[in-house]
Amino acid sequence: MRVLAFNGSPRMKRSNTEKILTPFLDGIRSAGAEVELVYLRRLKIQPCTGCFNCWFRTPGICAIKDDIQNLREKLLEADIVIFATPVYLFSSSGYMKILMERLLFPLTMPEFLLVNDRVYHPIRYQDRKWKSILIANGAFDGDDVFKPLIDMYERAIHNAVDNKGESSFMSLGNIIVGFGELFTDEHIKAKCAPFFNGMYNAGVQLVKKGYIPAENLEEVNKSIYLHAGITRQQAVEKINDIISESKANFILPSFLEKSDELK
Ligand SMILES: Cc1cc2nc3c(=O)[nH]c(=O)nc-3n(C[C@H](O)[C@H](O)[C@H](O)COP(=O)(O)O)c2cc1C
Repeated sequence: MRVLAFNGSPRMKRSNTEKILTPFLDGIRSAGAEVELVYLRRLKIQPCTGCFNCWFRTPGICAIKDDIQNLREKLLEADIVIFATPVYLFSSSGYMKILMERLLFPLTMPEFLLVNDRVYHPIRYQDRKWKSILIANGAFDGDDVFKPLIDMYERAIHNAVDNKGESSFMSLGNIIVGFGELFTDEHIKAKCAPFFNGMYNAGVQLVKKGYIPAENLEEVNKSIYLHAGITRQQAVEKINDIISESKANFILPSFLEKSDELK
């Protein structure tokens, strides 16, 4: 089983996305699957230019010659794709959005299909199926914060369907983490051991069973403040404390000082 994971946070290894993804990928590896983790910020992936070469001139292949060509090959070899992103203005990070445009759109054919009163494109590779997982974290929490991102992602992976209305992608569920910045508090992070263990177990189960069991998904989707044993109001206050501290001590984040990390 091959797993291709995308970390769409510009903060890369220092990101909350990384904190959430790491135990999950550890669990996946420990159960014997092959994992490739890609930091989108490290790559050169230009935004889509809308030239439609991928539909009409070089079907399935984007005309822009950059790192997407390599990612396309990796995708074609993968069984499971993990899209991990922070919430940026109620959608994914720009890095993740550009990746989805460039990687997913060429998997569609130009024609339109009307299936069960919804409009789709036909799928390009009839014999290829992927399982996919969305992992998202935001500074806020609540369904209203994550809904636009989840809707965009779920419709994007179901942009193309076969005649039965089946997509090339099968969603294995979403892992949604609100109040992500609470992880910067070591005390709270320590209390979230059940969450991190849950992510590890979800990874193990994913490989063993081919899906994440419902009780496992429920555990990792439980709000961080509940794991931390505080109320939502206390979580907001805690985050405001973190913000005052940052305001008082703000220095350029070290990940911006180390130019080698940006390469
Ligand atoms: C440009 C920008 C836009 C953001 N927009 C949102 C938002 O709409 N909702 C939210 O909850 N958090 C938002 N955030 C906060 C991040 O989602 C949050 O800090 C997250 O924990 C960062 O994850 P990361 O460390 O994996 O990058 C935004 C942050 C930035 C820099």
